[in-house]
Amino acid sequence: MPENENIPGSTALVIFGVTGDLTRRKLIPALYELMLADRLPENFYVIGFARRDWTDDFLREQMRSGVLEFARNQPVNPEIQNRLLQKMFYLQASFDDTEGYRVLANRLAELKIENCLFYLATPPSAYETIVEQLGAANLPHAHSGWTRIVIEKPYGRNLESAIQLDNAVHQVFDESQVYRIDHYLGKETVQNILVFRFANGIFEPLWNRRYVDHVQLTVAETVGVGTRAGYYETSGVIRDMFQNHLLQLLTLTTMEAPSSFAANPVRDEKVKILRSLRPIHGNTAIDETLRAQYVAGTVDGERVPGYKDAPDVSPHSVTETYLAARVYIDNWRWASVPFYIRSGKCMPRQVTEVAIQFKQVPLSLFGWKNLAGAAPNVLVLNIQPDEGITLRFGAKAPGPINQIQPVSMEFNYEETFGGEPPEAYERLLLDCMMGDATLFTRTDEVHAAWSFTTGILEGWAENPVRNLPIYEAGTWGPQQADPFIQRDADQWRNLDL
Ligand code: BG6
Repeated sequence: MPENENIPGSTALVIFGVTGDLTRRKLIPALYELMLADRLPENFYVIGFARRDWTDDFLREQMRSGVLEFARNQPVNPEIQNRLLQKMFYLQASFDDTEGYRVLANRLAELKIENCLFYLATPPSAYETIVEQLGAANLPHAHSGWTRIVIEKPYGRNLESAIQLDNAVHQVFDESQVYRIDHYLGKETVQNILVFRFANGIFEPLWNRRYVDHVQLTVAETVGVGTRAGYYETSGVIRDMFQNHLLQLLTLTTMEAPSSFAANPVRDEKVKILRSLRPIHGNTAIDETLRAQYVAGTVDGERVPGYKDAPDVSPHSVTETYLAARVYIDNWRWASVPFYIRSGKCMPRQVTEVAIQFKQVPLSLFGWKNLAGAAPNVLVLNIQPDEGITLRFGAKAPGPINQIQPVSMEFNYEETFGGEPPEAYERLLLDCMMGDATLFTRTDEVHAAWSFTTGILEGWAENPVRNLPIYEAGTWGPQQADPFIQRDADQWRNLDL
């Protein structure tokens, strides 16, 4: 795409909850990068709306330090940074204060902007109130150009609350104005899953139950819950990672080719996968998932306290910080192929990957018995942090006997393309402004993801855990993880370097 193509006219971005971490760490550094690349409209403003007693100047100072610390391209260009900061304003009001929205409407009118993007970066408990207030102030329809709303996750706590939130949103905004964010979709490597599959002829014929033995999807993080324990207590891995990021990775890995690479055809195919997931509920929720919580340990050489030692965590908490699940997609392509999904906090290494393990050759001609267990053919999509793709296969080690050794073919983003890939939020903010919803979750997609996840949550509620398995921080999960996967004669990939 040539630079500057389709850059919208004058635009305001209104960030609710601007004082939170997301704005400083992600949103403003992403806007800085967009401005640096000349991708923002000429007249572009940011209005921060929040309860705290901040001023324009204080907001600008906070965001200046955010850009300096988190911008991708370092050192920061002071001229661009100042240009961005000068366009930022603060509006102090609580989210249910009608007067605050009147002031906001006046401010937007004074700026004479054509387009307006509302961004909900608040705790989710404020979403409905803000949406109602925007509606009452007629802000969704007050601009000559477009008006859109970006809503951060978590979008609901279960199917029922997601539907309720959706109803509130649809009272005020048309679905075409709604951009539900899942930042995993903004990652280059996640988008590359579809390019890899559908722009190349050689992989797709193998991408099915005839050739794939099983798939392992891992999102391991070294971080714990940090200061977010209050939120995390009510969430756990299932709501924080599984319902959104992990299911998104699963849909992109398994969906059929869309009729075109446009928002609705892509999302249609993703929804079909979510609806084909074999439900996990009742007792199956106990058999097909494994939960655990970290206790004190050592990560990256540092001592880490246990989850229960974090402030705001109940000493009786059974919130899972590790989750493994065995998932089946009941459709023609994937029938009976197990998908093992696992995610945890305080793991030994940060790694997000999708590993497709292929079936064995029908007959072992080289007596390489090992092939089945220790060194199968695996294609790994390395989502982060070592972005790339690796294909592992057996090769003859030089010498007079047929000794076979596992070797790899590798593609590495950084070596090939140089530099760090753009941050997810750069792409997502740009797409919102361009009106491209491909990388955002549609209402039926959210419902389908919640419908599946709610089955698990209800199954857990019906069968309360007495002794939640534990794992030491800095290990790959509880000891029950191995028997969990060995039931199918498989084993977890060894992700130690
Ligand atoms: C967020 C979760 O959505 O994703 C966090 O709330 C998690 O708990 C984060 O740490 C992981 O994102 P990334 O981009 O660092 O993999």
